[in-house]
Amino acid sequence: MTKHSRPTTRVRIVVAVDGPSSSGKSSVGAEAARRLGYRFCDTGLLYRAVSWLAMERGIAHDQTAALVRLVDDVKLVADARGRLRHVEASGRDVTAEVRGPAVDRAVSDYSKVPELRAALVPLQRALADEAGIIVAGRDIGTVILPDADLKIYLFASPEERARRRAAQRRLSANGTQARGILEDMLRRDAIDSGRQTAPLRAAEDAIVLTTDGNTFQQTVSQVVRTIRQAEKRARAANGETGAP
Ligand code: DC
Repeated sequence: MTKHSRPTTRVRIVVAVDGPSSSGKSSVGAEAARRLGYRFCDTGLLYRAVSWLAMERGIAHDQTAALVRLVDDVKLVADARGRLRHVEASGRDVTAEVRGPAVDRAVSDYSKVPELRAALVPLQRALADEAGIIVAGRDIGTVILPDADLKIYLFASPEERARRRAAQRRLSANGTQARGILEDMLRRDAIDSGRQTAPLRAAEDAIVLTTDGNTFQQTVSQVVRTIRQAEKRARAANGETGAP
């Protein structure tokens, strides 16, 4: 800082991060939030927890009223840094369960139900009441927070995403299970992108970041840089240029 300059107020913004499954929204978003001192929410956990509860209770996709009632039993839980990366169902932490393969297979079909999506809207919108948050999902920039200060769409090819998911599960990249992951991913992409309500797509004003070939840290740095630039734009727009 020079002698004549004065500290600039940092403007915190609301960031929507969308992208297909295993594009890194959740892990990259959470790490970027840590670096920036932002809160974070992985909205996929809500859909996963409702799907897990529905399976536990034998509720099918077409039992709409029962499905919507499950929303009351699901709660996101913040860690010490304010990151909403854990989820409780009926008061029990089920984060590990909802990330398992059984939910992977079922969640896209439950997520298609318009009434369930509608029931989850207020919960997600309330997150942005206070700026300084990264919200990750499929329709955050297009439907949930269309006025977000910054929209990022994380793109990665299905093959790259399947490789990452296989590595996470410590599977060999060319084995039968890894091929199964790719097939499953293509099926889920098709459902998520093809559904009538809030299909997965980049918002027109989203910045698309392609992450194929990136390391995790490279993508985090790219996201952090993009957010800092948007903070600067927001500060300039507020007339707080920091000039003496
Ligand atoms: O990001 P994820 O793989 O944990 O998401 C799980 C599912 O939830 C995914 O198949 C689509 C759905 N989802 C959604 O429809 N809208 C969101 N905002 C977040 C997730």
